[in-house]
Amino acid sequence: MRYQNVPWIILLIATLCVQVGLAQDQTVITRIAFGSCANQTKPCPIWEVMAEYRPQLTLLLGDNVYADQLNGRMQPATPERIVAAYAVLQADPGFTQLRSQTQLMATWDDHDYGANDAGGDWVHKQASAQAFHDFLGTPPDADIRQQAGVYQARVFGPPGKRVQVIMLDTRFFRSELPQAETPKPGFRARPYLPQTGPDAQLLGDAQWQWLEQQLRQPAEVRLIGSSIQVLSDEHPFEMWANFPAERERLYDLLRQTEASGVVLLSGDRHLGEISLDPNAVSYPLYDLTASGLNQGYQGWRLPEPNSKRFAALPFGNHFGSIEIDWDANDPLLSLQLRLENGQIGVQAIVPLSVLVAEPRPLPRPAGVLSPAEVLTGEVGQAVVVQMPVRAGRDLAAPRRILLNSQQNYAAESNLTVVVQNTALTGVHEDAKLNRFLNQTVRATGEITLYNGRKQVEVKRPEDLEIVPR
Ligand SMILES: [Fe+2]
Repeated sequence: MRYQNVPWIILLIATLCVQVGLAQDQTVITRIAFGSCANQTKPCPIWEVMAEYRPQLTLLLGDNVYADQLNGRMQPATPERIVAAYAVLQADPGFTQLRSQTQLMATWDDHDYGANDAGGDWVHKQASAQAFHDFLGTPPDADIRQQAGVYQARVFGPPGKRVQVIMLDTRFFRSELPQAETPKPGFRARPYLPQTGPDAQLLGDAQWQWLEQQLRQPAEVRLIGSSIQVLSDEHPFEMWANFPAERERLYDLLRQTEASGVVLLSGDRHLGEISLDPNAVSYPLYDLTASGLNQGYQGWRLPEPNSKRFAALPFGNHFGSIEIDWDANDPLLSLQLRLENGQIGVQAIVPLSVLVAEPRPLPRPAGVLSPAEVLTGEVGQAVVVQMPVRAGRDLAAPRRILLNSQQNYAAESNLTVVVQNTALTGVHEDAKLNRFLNQTVRATGEITLYNGRKQVEVKRPEDLEIVPR
């Protein structure tokens, strides 16, 4: 090989990588738009507003077209009608403008899949998937075209500022979802009956395995798009709560993979709301529902029951946006729902440090106690305890550090390890709480009492160590 050819060969390889999607997009993402429920048979001026917002990345969460509408009535689609519906959307000037200036990722929901509330038994699902990929511009030879289901993921940005987008497919594999005979009080719709049997599935095994692989990829922010709501429990429509074991499996997987920075995005509901579950995983889990690019409820309505609601946007068409301030000391995520004029309707601002997964428990050698075991011990007893540090305090005069095993120091199950100033010498000379936070520590000391609560006091530097993972 002649050496002057080497740069050309490198360029050729790089070009091929880009073409087959191997190269990771290094753009630092700071501005994302998302939404769902755009009926192509009606005007959709919000596409232009989204274009003016200038997102770097736009995520469509399903019901991106309504292929199952015929003469104003709902009727299961044919493959031809699905293709025709996408063609109408492609010809929309506002959508065309948005698309020309943003990266686009999508999943589908029932109306673009082809039939209202359809699942894995939908007869045209293969043809619908090809129409979906044609609309998205998926290359004809891409593996994803051969895959069952339209789930996909990408990571944008350099290490330290990576945004991973995971788009789930909640339709292709979904098992049957029968309805109850009578409506729930306060609703006209008959509720779906929670499916608990061994065959009840939402994602299917292949997609679950793929999701685990994705969650093990490094990323600072992870946006998981699900066409249907994940957190809400009370309404009678489609939601993950109709498959309680599948939802628990999702939470378990997030815990097992220690995936930090997860924010859920959903659609389908013709309403906007931000739901929050502080207990689903080891950090607050948000579900941003932006549903009504042109199908939002016109007028105002009382928000429906949702015990996990953090904020509601109970009127009008809207889209969602996520802004990331990577330059802040602790990067800030603004999770927003925007009105038809582009103004922020509601938002939650979350420091990225809040969305940190707790490490899974590390093995404890024989004789090393858990916080619960220490709390049943005797005052004056010498113990070695191993625990995760979930919270704490730096104190002055005399200098000491409190390490708490629970977020809430007042919780019955909380054990505080008091690192006295005599222990803050040598290796711990400059230590502050931050060194120990979200780590697992092993501490040797004596059980003492403070305000009637048992604690462990550490007095020598060699009696405190961070357990390596
Ligand atoms: Fe839907």
